[in-house]
Amino acid sequence: MIDKRKWFYPLVILLSFVFLTFGTGCTNKQQGNIAKTGSGHVRIGLSMDTLKEERWQHDRDLFVARAQELGAEVLVQAANGDDKTQNQQAENLLTQGVDVLVVIPHNGEVAASIVDSAKRQNVPVIAYDRLIRNSEPDLYISFDNEKVGEMQAHYLMERAPKGNYVLIGGAPTDNNAMMFRSGQMKALKSSIDHGDIKIVANEWARDWLASEALKHAENSLTLSNNDIVAIVASNDATAGGAIQALEEQKLAGKVFVSGQDADLPALQRIVAGTQSMTVYKPVALLARRAAETAVSLAKHEKIEATSTVNNGKIDVPSVLLQPVIVDKDNIVDTVAKDGYQKLEEIYKNVPREKWPQVKKIALNTRKRENNRFRRADMM
Ligand code: GAL
Repeated sequence: MIDKRKWFYPLVILLSFVFLTFGTGCTNKQQGNIAKTGSGHVRIGLSMDTLKEERWQHDRDLFVARAQELGAEVLVQAANGDDKTQNQQAENLLTQGVDVLVVIPHNGEVAASIVDSAKRQNVPVIAYDRLIRNSEPDLYISFDNEKVGEMQAHYLMERAPKGNYVLIGGAPTDNNAMMFRSGQMKALKSSIDHGDIKIVANEWARDWLASEALKHAENSLTLSNNDIVAIVASNDATAGGAIQALEEQKLAGKVFVSGQDADLPALQRIVAGTQSMTVYKPVALLARRAAETAVSLAKHEKIEATSTVNNGKIDVPSVLLQPVIVDKDNIVDTVAKDGYQKLEEIYKNVPREKWPQVKKIALNTRKRENNRFRRADMM
């Protein structure tokens, strides 16, 4: 007859010890700050790919400001373009008990494991600006990125309908880079099919690095014996690299160049005439909307999505905002009027008498609008 005392009771003791240790630990981890502290104090984890580009600094500041207006705390982590670091930082934010995770992925595929981990801990996830693939984020909020690409190509085609074109795309790890390129090709297709436009170089800039864009532009200028009419650069950083290569060949201002992000150096190049345009994405709207939705998700409130984007696994509920074309003729009425960039900084290298006459009224109206907007939001 087997003597139960020998194994049964010690087993019961062992199992209850395991349960007490891990069972309870697990439930604590699954509870975000709200649940754990019982306070209405929302804690948001903001996991960023990088702060290298100027725009991300705007996004961070505007997001944090809106979240704090709503009484939330934001823990910000930037991974400097490293996937391993971003995954570790996201795990760290989850361990700190964030109620919701907002992620700007360095790599849209690799970041899927961040979403999976958060979902296992019942922490909702927002994919911010860049889509996270093959996972189940609760919301994707960005701009109409295909339209960005169409705007870039169309703008250059209107000014250089025939000739050799160079395409300098963004980071292949960034799903947005693919969407920009798909919009660009959509716009260029008919002119390519008619033989009016020839793509002499079709490149991608690792990590959106200006140095990569410089290298690609130098090579394509050499290969085409400087016979290039336009460079479709996918953002302002890569446009800056390409324009440096044009300057080396004394072609800056003679070749049309696109951009994106309305970075200050890019706006100064547009005023100087070496860059043709940029695509402005009012990140204030994006950051504010994302902060508001993050707080709602943390409180398990219903959120609003206006479309869906398929990420290879699900149709992700999405909000896609509208981009704006900016060139030397509308800088004042767009980025300056929005207070996204300061007029005096944009025109820093231009004699004062050549600055655009800004109607005082316009600026005041905008300030009033901003305040009204801000007041409205807090209602
Ligand atoms: C993209 C973003 C662009 C640009 C780029 C480089 O994902 O949509 O605005 O900034 O990253 O950071």
